[in-house]
Amino acid sequence: MHPALLASATLQPTRIGPEQFETYRQGLVELLIDGVRHGASIGFLADLSLAEANAYFDEVLTGLQDGSRLLWVAGEPSQLLGSVQLCLCQKRNGLNRAEIQKLLVLASARRRGLARALMHGVEAQARELRRGLLYLDTEAGSPAEYLYRSLGYTCIGGLPDYACGPDGQYRANAIYYKTLSSPAL
Ligand SMILES: CC(C)(COP(=O)(O)OP(=O)(O)OC[C@H]1O[C@@H](n2cnc3c(N)ncnc32)[C@H](O)[C@@H]1OP(=O)(O)O)[C@@H](O)C(=O)NCCC(=O)NCCS
Repeated sequence: MHPALLASATLQPTRIGPEQFETYRQGLVELLIDGVRHGASIGFLADLSLAEANAYFDEVLTGLQDGSRLLWVAGEPSQLLGSVQLCLCQKRNGLNRAEIQKLLVLASARRRGLARALMHGVEAQARELRRGLLYLDTEAGSPAEYLYRSLGYTCIGGLPDYACGPDGQYRANAIYYKTLSSPAL
C-alpha cells in the first residue's frame, strides 16, 4: 500500500455487525488472501481461492448473526488494513472464555500499531461482556508471538505438527492466554 494512502486511512478499529458485513466482505477476502500469500498460517493453503475465502466468510457471517462471533476491521471498506475476530464460547459452563481468531494486518501496513489497536478493541469488548479469559493459538516462532507477549499474553506450550502453513509444511503451534478478570458469579 502507498504510504500516503496508509497515513490517510482509518486506522481506528471498528466492530461491525451482520448488517455491515457485506460492505466489508470483499476487503476481508482480499486481506485474507494477502495474508496467505505472505505466508501467514491462518487455516488455509497457498492455493486459497476466492470461492474458498468467500465460503469461509459465509461461516463468519453466520457467527455474527447468531451472536457467537464478533468482528473488527481497520481501514476503509475498499482497502481493509486489518481485522480480528472474537469467538464467544456458547456453552453454559464456558461463558467466561472467548477465543481470538484470525488477527491479520495487510502485509504492507504492518509495524504501525494496527494489530495492537485491534487487540485493544477486542480486550475492551471482552471486558464489557465479562469474558475474563482470552485465549488463542498461533504458529510457533511466528512474529505474532512477539505481539502477544508484548500485550501480556502467557504461552502455555504448543502441539507439534499442529497445522500446515500455506506452503503445506506442518508446524507446531503456540497456545496463549490472558486473564482479564475473575469469572462473574
Ligand atoms: C502478527 C501481525 C498481526 C502483527 O501486526 P502489526 O500491525 O504489524 O503489529 P503491530 O504494529 O501492532 O505491532 C505491535 C508490537 O508487536 C510486536 N511485533 C509485531 N510484529 C513483529 C515482528 N514482525 N517482529 C517482532 N515484533 C513484532 C512488536 O512488539 C510491536 O511493537 P513495536 O512495533 O512498537 O516494536 C501481522 O504480522 C500479521 O498479520 N501476520 C500474519 C498473520 C498472523 O500471523 N496472525 C496471527 C495469527 S493468530
